[in-house]
Order: sequence, then structure tokens, then C-alpha cells
Amino acid sequence: MTETKEEGTNWAERGAFWARTAPQGLSDQDHGNQAIIAAAGIEEGDHVLDIASGAGEPAISTAIAVGETGSVTAYDANPEMLAGTRQRAENLGLKNLRFEIGQMESLPFDDNTFDAVTCRFGIMFPDDAVAAVGEAVRVLKPGGRVAYMVHGVAEENTLYTVLRDTVWAYFNEQPSSTHNRRFRFSKLGELTELLTAAGLEDIEERKVQENQKRPSEGRMWQRLLDRSYGKRLAGMSDEQLENLHAAIKTAFEPYLRGDHYELLSTDMLGSGRKP
Ligand SMILES: C[S@@+](CC[C@H](N)C(=O)[O-])C[C@H]1O[C@@H](n2cnc3c(N)ncnc32)[C@H](O)[C@@H]1O
Repeated sequence: MTETKEEGTNWAERGAFWARTAPQGLSDQDHGNQAIIAAAGIEEGDHVLDIASGAGEPAISTAIAVGETGSVTAYDANPEMLAGTRQRAENLGLKNLRFEIGQMESLPFDDNTFDAVTCRFGIMFPDDAVAAVGEAVRVLKPGGRVAYMVHGVAEENTLYTVLRDTVWAYFNEQPSSTHNRRFRFSKLGELTELLTAAGLEDIEERKVQENQKRPSEGRMWQRLLDRSYGKRLAGMSDEQLENLHAAIKTAFEPYLRGDHYELLSTDMLGSGRKP
């Protein structure tokens, strides 16, 4: 058995797959985005920093929420990942998005610049997450809120877990530390500890859980498969691909309910206020 060849944290390489699989305009995952926007106390006219924006969650939904008098700065370490956000903003005619490239551990903004800071599925990646949150707090105005969303525990994320286990079994591979990193801060209390250590107050943490319905027609796993394993898929023959899809379809059969699959999706949402 070999160590997994999962693309992992090579975001520059994965960017093309993310941009290609991003929604064309409005989010198709808006439930979580609206929860982030509410937790960060975002209102019309606010100037918001979204860290690790990737293909635009929650940056696009936030740009709509703050309206023309507000703005969203979409920030990411990889321009390739931001390509999807740029395209979506253009498709929607949004003029209040700005783009900046850099690491979240050292933000190129003055102290006390933004009304709110958001970050979805990004704070698991820096080695020193407390320092990264500290940077977000530095650029936030006093009284403003930050909101971080991370994945909930693997067992409560059916789509990810079933796909991961099936792909690993297909390639006869083992989990790597990259996969463990994805579930950093997944347990209730871990985000609170992080935000407390970074000096925030009025901290709230909760589970955002949904029973997602996905159509049984077609391959509802295709986007996650492309985003997670796109490079490897590109090297497979049509026959190998067909076999992999057949294995995935079989693995999801227990979740079929008539004309749709029912899949549990769980994220953790933590927020706090700058004193
Ligand atoms: C899982 S994606 C999340 C994208 C988007 N927020 C979403 O929820 O769909 C993680 C993003 O974090 C970015 N990233 C990883 N480490 C980073 C760092 N140290 N500083 C800034 N961005 C980083 C990656 O480039 C990637 O776009």
C-alpha cells in the first residue's frame, strides 16, 4: 500500500479544478455563507475582508449583502484559486469586489481597516493558526467581528467521507496528514479555544448542519472528486474512470431516498468580537 497521492494543499495546482467547478454566479452553497455573514454581523455598507476566498465562498454572497456602498476584499495565497471568484463577480456584474494575493499570516492591510473579517475552510492550513487569527484581529476595527467556518467531524460529512474512502480503496492507498489537517478545529470547543487565544471576546461557536438532498440522476460527487483528485483523474483512461464512478455509485447506494441522495453535511462556525 502506498501513501496517498491526494493533491492536498497544493492550491496553485488545484486552482484550475476549483475555478472550472465553481458556480457561474450565485452560490449553490448559500446556507453556510449566510450563517457566516450573520455571525460576523455584516450589514449593508460594510467593508469586509474574506480570507482564503478560493472560488468565492462566502465572498460573492457577502458582496451582494453589503451592496454597492460596501466592499469585499477577496484575499488568497493563490491567484489560481481566485480565478473562479473573479469570473463569478464578472458574470453577476458585481463591482464591489477587490482582490489581493498573500498569506493570511501577514496581511498587507493597515490596523483597524475592516468592519468584519470572514474565512471559510481556510484557518486549518497555517501552522500557527493563533497568529493567523491575530492578524485578522489586527486589521479589524474595534467592535467588529470575525467569523471562521471549518469542516465538522468526518463522520458527520457523508459526501466527503464516502467519496474519500471509496477513492482510497480504489487506489489502494492510505490516509495522509493532509486529510487530518482538513479536520483541524472540527470538534466543538476547538474554535472557541483558538479565538480566545487570539484575544477575541463575545465568542460564539455552533454546528451548522444540513441534510443535503442531491439528485440521484448524474454524478453529484463529480465536483468534489474533481476538486480533490482532479490531477489524478486527468491521467486515467476512460475505462478506469468508468470503473471508479461505478464504485462510487455503489458506495452511495445506502443514501438513496427515491429520486435523491440524502447526505449529512456538518460545519463548525466560530465568531468573536475585537475588544
Ligand atoms: C478549501 S479552500 C476554501 C476556499 C473557499 N473559502 C471555500 O470555502 O470554498 C482553501 C483556500 O485557502 C487558501 N490558503 C491556504 N493557505 C493559505 C494561507 N496561508 N494564506 C492565504 N490563503 C491560504 C488556498 O489557496 C485555498 O484557496
